[in-house]
Order: sequence, then C-alpha cells, then structure tokens
Amino acid sequence: MNLPDMKEAKKRGENHTKYVRQENLVSKAFLGKRYFIRTYGCQMNVHDSEEICACVENLGFIKTEDMQEADLVILNTCAIRENAHDKVFGYLGRLKHLKREKPDLMIAIGGCMPQQEDVTEEICKHHPYVDLVFGTHNIHDLGRLLLEKKRKQEVDVYSIEGDVYENVLYKRDSHITAWVNTMYGCDKFCTYCIVPYTRGRQRSRKMEDILLEVEDLVKQGYQEVTLLGQNVNAYGKDLEVPVSFATLLEKVSKTGISRVRFVTSHPWDFTDEMIDIIAKYDNIMPYIHLPLQSGSSRILKLMGRRYTKEEYLSLFQKMKERISGVAITTDIIVGFPGETESDFEETLDVVNTCQFDGAYTFIFSPRAGTPASKMKDETDLSIKEERLHRLNELVNHYSLQNNQAYLGKKVPVLVQGVSEKDPNKIYGYTDTMKLVNFSASKEMIGRIIPVLITDAKSFSLDGEIVSD
Ligand code: 5AD
Ligand code: SF4
Repeated sequence: MNLPDMKEAKKRGENHTKYVRQENLVSKAFLGKRYFIRTYGCQMNVHDSEEICACVENLGFIKTEDMQEADLVILNTCAIRENAHDKVFGYLGRLKHLKREKPDLMIAIGGCMPQQEDVTEEICKHHPYVDLVFGTHNIHDLGRLLLEKKRKQEVDVYSIEGDVYENVLYKRDSHITAWVNTMYGCDKFCTYCIVPYTRGRQRSRKMEDILLEVEDLVKQGYQEVTLLGQNVNAYGKDLEVPVSFATLLEKVSKTGISRVRFVTSHPWDFTDEMIDIIAKYDNIMPYIHLPLQSGSSRILKLMGRRYTKEEYLSLFQKMKERISGVAITTDIIVGFPGETESDFEETLDVVNTCQFDGAYTFIFSPRAGTPASKMKDETDLSIKEERLHRLNELVNHYSLQNNQAYLGKKVPVLVQGVSEKDPNKIYGYTDTMKLVNFSASKEMIGRIIPVLITDAKSFSLDGEIVSD
C-alpha cells in the first residue's frame, strides 16, 4: 500500500498561471466504458465536476446516471462539515460491495476530503479497494492519472497553492447558465473553516482569461454566468497588478451576457464601488449572498470574521437603499463554541432586522486543524438543535413573506428546464434568484420571459405565462 508522500507533494508547483495543453487522450481501454459521478458540497465542487467529466470523457468514457452499470465511479467530495465527510464514507461502503460483484470497477475519490492528509491516509489504510485518490489542485491531470495508473492504489494529492490552470475543459451541465471561476482558495481563515486548508490560499485568475471565457460563453449562446469564488470580493488583490472585483464585474457585464451573478461575498471586502456597479448595470442581477454567520459581535470576533453586528447591518442597509429590489440571502452557524442564549438572540435579532430572502443554516461542526475545533464547547447538541429549529422557523417565515410580495407581479424569468417534480411544468429563476414553476411550452427553455406570480411558498413561486 502506498501512503501519500504529502510533504514531497507540497513542494510541487509554482506561483503562476499555467496554460494546459489539451490533448486527445482517447484510449482503447476506456472507449465506450461508463462512468458515474457523485458530487458533494458547494457550487465550486459542482463546477469542478464539470471539469472532471470533461477529463474522463476525453478518455472515451460515457456518462451514466446508474451507478450499478458504471465501470468507473468518481466521488467529488466536500469537507466543510462532518456530515458531508460521513456521507462519503457511507457511500464508500456501498462501492466496496459493488466492487466485490464487479472486480474491474474503478473507484476514484477527489475533491476537498483528500486535501486533508489524515483523510487520505485513512483511505489508503482502510479502503484499499479505492483505485485513485486525487485532490482539488490536479483535476486537469485526471485523464493522465487514469491512463497511466501504475499502482493498485494511485494517490496524487498535492496542497501547493500557487498555480492557476487555464485552458481546462468543462463539460457544462447547462447550455443556458454557466459557472465561471474567478479565484481559487481563501485567505480569510475564519476560525471554523477548513477551506483555506483544503483549497489553499487565495489565487485569482487573470482578468483577461476570465473575460475570454465569458466572451466565448456569450458566443455559444449562454444567457447567464455566475462568477465563482470562496470570497469573490477579494478577487484580484493577489494579482501582480491588482484589480478590484468591481472592475471585473463591470467588464463581465459589458460582454453582453444577459445575466451576471456572483457567489460568495464576504462582508469585509464588499466595497461601495461594488454596490454602485451592481446598481448601475441592469444585467448584474440584484441578488447578493452575504453570509452573516452570527449576529453576536462577540462570536463574530471568535470566528475571525472581521466585522461587528453593527457593521453588517449598516452594509446590509446600504445595499437595500442603493440597489433597487435587491434580494439578500445569508449563511448562519449556530452553536459556535461559547455561543450563549443571549449571543443566539443577537442572531435572531439580525434576522428580524434584515428579513433575509433566504438563509442556509448550520450547526457548528468542528473541523480538525481549524482554531475553532480547539475552542471549549460546552453547549449540548440538543440545545444547538433547538436553536437551529427556532432559527429555521424565523428564516422560513421571512422567506415566505418576501416571496408573498411577488404575488400578482409580472417578473422576468430565465427558463432553465423541465420541473423535476412535475414534468408538465417548466422552471426558471427571477433576477432575484427566486425559483418559479409554471406551465408553458418547453420551447421557452433558454429564454427570459415575463411570468405572472400566482402563488408563493417558502422556497419557490408558482406562476403563469403572460404576454408582454
Ligand atoms: N461548521 C458549520 N458550518 C460551517 N460552514 C463553514 N464551515 C463550517 C463549520 N465548520 C458554513 C458557513 C459557510 C458555509 C458555506 O458553510 O456558514 O458560509
Ligand atoms: Fe471559509 Fe471564511 Fe474563507 Fe468563507 S471566507 S471560505 S467561511 S475562511
């Protein structure tokens, strides 16, 4: 068994943009074989999976949605909370069984989990039936890794954080909306967060490379791009010639794409310039995901968030005042070490003040190696669960209230596909990122059309098609 030599691996790579040369790697060994991929975690991982799919299809593999018929199973993993980690190990148990029935089955694990040394070691020691372990920094190399695999269990994970790879291929899930990376990693080191350790320090793509990608997407007929980054507002600070995210946003908006979105924003780096640019351009969507994490300044300090409750509220207010009709969603963690009932009430207070359009809420999950995992945490899980429940009730109340404000209004919707729940309906999103289901011809898919909102729920709207 080969344990990964992470220390050696850490030395690899240099601090600059590398333009990957695309080669056709189609191989007789893989031509026509089936692959199945399962993705865990955030949009970044979803987009990474688009790159993974392109790499394996370049070898000759064909995608299947049925794991049982796969010759290659790929798990693209997430490390942000313990439950994501547990799910992957649970799934591995199923794959172990499948491999007993199909000894030729290849199993590959990639993404954020293998970026943690102890996880990779655990896979090597206890899951020898896994054929390949790769990370987030070498996806572009996946084709070669599968093709040239020499050892029973190949491990190729490295945590060097300097490189930005360009010219990589994507097999995009949609022909209408596209993810576009702006930067990789994060420099914020919030005390609970594993991301700076798994995805490394912040490194931005050069603006010209991002713009070329968006221009190409426009030519292909894409209607929407979402600019991705763990902390998009810090975009460009690490470039040789620094560029602001506001400048990037403005240039992307001028490519002529119908809709521009971006995730995720850190309140610390959100400048007035950015607010002005969002307000100025009609094709920059009035939707901002602005993680709060906690409403207590004391807890925010322990989290290393670099803003207080009051600073968050004043930024929030400024956005609402200057960006007409803006929808704002957030992330909140409950049960951070040392969070008292009164700290939690501060969080509820911010939720009551901001009345968010939506919120992703989580119970704090200690991640090995992060400062918060070593902080004293004396609150019972049952108390944390009860806080989460109270928080969710409040959050859902405001989501519903915000959605109800759409009743009877006619709003532009970018139609994205057939509803999964009801094949007679199609769905799309408003510019404020509200999901709308309605009955209309499938020919509408890919178009931005006016829809009259007839019903509002906490997580979606129903509508009907109307003429202009
Ligand atoms: N425990 C719970 N939630 C976390 N998040 C990040 N790290 C943790 C953790 N250790 C949440 C934050 C972040 C979102 C993507 O996940 O709210 O914004
Ligand atoms: Fe994690 Fe904080 Fe960076 Fe977000 S900003 S990825 S929460 S360290």
